[in-house]
Amino acid sequence: MTQLSTSDGGADRAEHRWAMVSVAILVLLVGIATFAALYHGAMPQSRVETTDPRTLHLGGEFIESNLGSAIEPDGTVTVRFIGQQYSFTPACIVVPTDTPVRFRATSADVVHGFLIDGTNINLMLVPGYVSSLGARFDTPGERLMPCQEFCSVGHEGMWGRVKIVDKAAFARMAAERRRLSCVE
Ligand code: CUA
Repeated sequence: MTQLSTSDGGADRAEHRWAMVSVAILVLLVGIATFAALYHGAMPQSRVETTDPRTLHLGGEFIESNLGSAIEPDGTVTVRFIGQQYSFTPACIVVPTDTPVRFRATSADVVHGFLIDGTNINLMLVPGYVSSLGARFDTPGERLMPCQEFCSVGHEGMWGRVKIVDKAAFARMAAERRRLSCVE
Protein backbone atom coordinates (compact mmCIF):
# COMPACT_ATOMS: atom_id res chain seq x y z
CA MET A 1 0.00 0.00 0.00
CA THR A 2 2.74 2.39 1.01
CA GLN A 3 4.78 1.22 -1.94
CA LEU A 4 1.90 1.91 -4.33
CA SER A 5 1.29 5.45 -3.10
CA THR A 6 5.01 6.30 -3.33
CA SER A 7 5.15 5.07 -6.90
CA ASP A 8 2.00 7.06 -7.69
CA GLY A 9 3.61 10.15 -6.24
CA GLY A 10 6.69 9.52 -8.39
CA ALA A 11 4.59 9.20 -11.53
CA ASP A 12 2.78 12.42 -10.68
CA ARG A 13 6.06 14.25 -10.25
CA ALA A 14 7.42 12.84 -13.50
CA GLU A 15 4.27 13.86 -15.33
CA HIS A 16 4.44 17.30 -13.79
CA ARG A 17 8.06 17.65 -14.90
CA TRP A 18 7.17 16.65 -18.44
CA ALA A 19 4.25 19.05 -18.50
CA MET A 20 6.63 21.81 -17.45
CA VAL A 21 9.03 20.81 -20.24
CA SER A 22 6.18 21.01 -22.79
CA VAL A 23 5.14 24.41 -21.48
CA ALA A 24 8.77 25.59 -21.62
CA ILE A 25 9.06 24.44 -25.26
CA LEU A 26 5.79 26.19 -26.10
CA VAL A 27 6.94 29.42 -24.44
CA LEU A 28 10.26 29.20 -26.31
CA LEU A 29 8.53 28.73 -29.70
CA VAL A 30 6.11 31.60 -29.08
CA GLY A 31 9.12 33.69 -28.07
CA ILE A 32 10.98 32.84 -31.26
CA ALA A 33 7.91 33.58 -33.41
CA THR A 34 7.34 36.90 -31.64
CA PHE A 35 10.97 37.88 -31.99
CA ALA A 36 11.04 36.95 -35.69
CA ALA A 37 7.85 38.88 -36.40
CA LEU A 38 9.05 42.01 -34.60
CA TYR A 39 12.59 41.77 -35.94
CA HIS A 40 11.54 41.40 -39.58
CA GLY A 41 8.80 43.98 -39.13
CA ALA A 42 11.32 46.49 -37.82
CA MET A 43 14.13 45.65 -40.25
CA PRO A 44 13.16 44.50 -43.73
CA GLN A 45 15.52 41.90 -45.11
CA SER A 46 18.21 43.29 -47.35
CA ARG A 47 17.04 41.21 -50.31
CA VAL A 48 13.64 42.90 -50.45
CA GLU A 49 13.54 44.99 -53.60
CA THR A 50 11.26 47.94 -53.91
CA THR A 51 9.85 49.96 -56.80
CA ASP A 52 7.60 52.96 -57.04
CA PRO A 53 4.27 51.89 -58.59
CA ARG A 54 3.53 55.49 -59.62
CA THR A 55 6.58 55.75 -61.86
CA LEU A 56 6.82 52.21 -63.26
CA HIS A 57 5.94 53.44 -66.77
CA LEU A 58 8.41 56.33 -66.69
CA GLY A 59 11.70 54.51 -66.30
CA GLY A 60 13.65 51.76 -64.64
CA GLU A 61 13.37 48.02 -64.83
CA PHE A 62 9.62 47.84 -65.44
CA ILE A 63 9.33 50.41 -68.20
CA GLU A 64 7.19 48.99 -71.01
CA SER A 65 10.06 48.48 -73.47
CA ASN A 66 11.84 46.32 -70.88
CA LEU A 67 8.91 43.96 -70.24
CA GLY A 68 8.88 40.44 -71.66
CA SER A 69 11.48 37.70 -71.85
CA ALA A 70 15.18 38.21 -72.50
CA ILE A 71 18.23 35.96 -72.60
CA GLU A 72 20.90 37.05 -70.13
CA PRO A 73 24.63 36.87 -70.92
CA ASP A 74 24.89 33.72 -68.78
CA GLY A 75 22.24 31.93 -70.85
CA THR A 76 19.44 32.14 -68.32
CA VAL A 77 16.21 33.91 -69.15
CA THR A 78 14.62 36.78 -67.24
CA VAL A 79 10.92 37.50 -67.65
CA ARG A 80 9.70 40.89 -66.53
CA PHE A 81 6.03 41.74 -66.31
CA ILE A 82 3.59 43.84 -64.38
CA GLY A 83 0.07 43.23 -63.17
CA GLN A 84 -2.55 45.95 -63.14
CA GLN A 85 -6.33 46.08 -62.91
CA TYR A 86 -7.21 43.90 -64.89
CA SER A 87 -4.44 42.48 -67.03
CA PHE A 88 -0.85 41.41 -67.17
CA THR A 89 1.69 43.17 -69.38
CA PRO A 90 2.67 41.29 -71.44
CA ALA A 91 -0.55 39.27 -71.47
CA CYS A 92 1.24 36.36 -73.10
CA ILE A 93 4.62 35.31 -71.75
CA VAL A 94 7.01 33.14 -73.74
CA VAL A 95 9.65 31.00 -72.03
CA PRO A 96 12.07 28.32 -73.27
CA THR A 97 12.34 24.70 -72.16
CA ASP A 98 15.36 23.38 -70.21
CA THR A 99 16.57 26.83 -69.16
CA PRO A 100 16.67 28.54 -65.78
CA VAL A 101 13.96 31.19 -65.96
CA ARG A 102 13.62 34.03 -63.49
CA PHE A 103 10.33 35.87 -63.20
CA ARG A 104 10.52 39.45 -61.96
CA ALA A 105 7.27 41.26 -61.52
CA THR A 106 5.42 43.94 -59.65
CA SER A 107 2.03 45.58 -59.53
CA ALA A 108 1.09 49.00 -60.81
CA ASP A 109 -1.91 49.40 -58.49
CA VAL A 110 -3.28 46.85 -56.00
CA VAL A 111 -2.19 43.36 -54.91
CA HIS A 112 -2.50 40.82 -57.71
CA GLY A 113 -1.50 37.19 -57.95
CA PHE A 114 0.41 35.34 -60.60
CA LEU A 115 0.00 31.63 -60.97
CA ILE A 116 0.94 29.31 -63.80
CA ASP A 117 -1.63 26.58 -64.15
CA GLY A 118 -0.31 23.06 -63.58
CA THR A 119 2.95 24.24 -61.96
CA ASN A 120 3.98 25.29 -58.46
CA ILE A 121 4.70 28.82 -59.71
CA ASN A 122 2.71 31.20 -57.58
CA LEU A 123 3.62 34.78 -56.75
CA MET A 124 1.95 37.72 -55.13
CA LEU A 125 2.45 40.99 -56.96
CA VAL A 126 2.50 43.75 -54.39
CA PRO A 127 2.67 47.41 -55.38
CA GLY A 128 6.00 48.85 -54.29
CA TYR A 129 7.82 45.52 -54.24
CA VAL A 130 9.55 43.32 -56.81
CA SER A 131 8.50 39.67 -56.72
CA SER A 132 11.15 37.30 -57.99
CA LEU A 133 10.94 33.56 -58.56
CA GLY A 134 13.14 31.04 -60.37
CA ALA A 135 11.61 28.26 -62.45
CA ARG A 136 12.38 25.71 -65.10
CA PHE A 137 10.09 24.21 -67.73
CA ASP A 138 10.63 20.70 -69.04
CA THR A 139 8.07 20.34 -71.80
CA PRO A 140 6.74 22.74 -74.43
CA GLY A 141 3.10 23.72 -74.23
CA GLU A 142 0.69 26.43 -73.37
CA ARG A 143 -0.61 27.25 -69.90
CA LEU A 144 -2.94 29.75 -68.36
CA MET A 145 -1.81 32.33 -65.82
CA PRO A 146 -4.79 33.65 -63.87
CA CYS A 147 -4.59 36.38 -61.25
CA GLN A 148 -5.26 34.49 -58.04
CA GLU A 149 -5.63 37.37 -55.60
CA PHE A 150 -8.99 39.13 -55.52
CA CYS A 151 -8.23 42.56 -56.95
CA SER A 152 -11.74 44.05 -57.28
CA VAL A 153 -14.59 43.76 -59.77
CA GLY A 154 -12.56 42.74 -62.82
CA HIS A 155 -10.57 40.05 -61.02
CA GLU A 156 -12.37 37.14 -62.73
CA GLY A 157 -11.30 38.44 -66.13
CA MET A 158 -7.62 38.90 -65.28
CA TRP A 159 -5.90 36.14 -67.23
CA GLY A 160 -2.76 35.72 -69.23
CA ARG A 161 -1.10 32.91 -71.12
CA VAL A 162 2.33 31.30 -70.95
CA LYS A 163 3.83 29.69 -74.03
CA ILE A 164 6.65 27.27 -73.34
CA VAL A 165 8.65 26.81 -76.55
CA ASP A 166 11.60 24.67 -77.45
CA LYS A 167 14.91 26.13 -76.31
CA ALA A 168 16.31 26.41 -79.86
CA ALA A 169 13.15 28.10 -81.17
CA PHE A 170 13.35 30.56 -78.30
CA ALA A 171 16.97 31.36 -79.13
CA ARG A 172 16.01 32.07 -82.76
CA MET A 173 13.21 34.40 -81.65
CA ALA A 174 15.53 36.14 -79.20
CA ALA A 175 18.09 36.76 -81.94
CA GLU A 176 15.57 39.00 -83.67
CA ARG A 177 14.15 40.92 -80.76
CA ARG A 178 15.54 42.23 -77.50
CA ARG A 179 12.38 41.47 -75.51
CA LEU A 180 10.05 38.62 -76.34
CA SER A 181 6.38 38.05 -75.68
CA CYS A 182 3.64 36.14 -77.46
CA VAL A 183 1.13 38.99 -77.50
CA GLU A 184 -0.35 39.11 -81.01
CU1 CUA B 1 -5.67 40.94 -60.41
CU2 CUA B 1 -7.16 39.49 -59.33
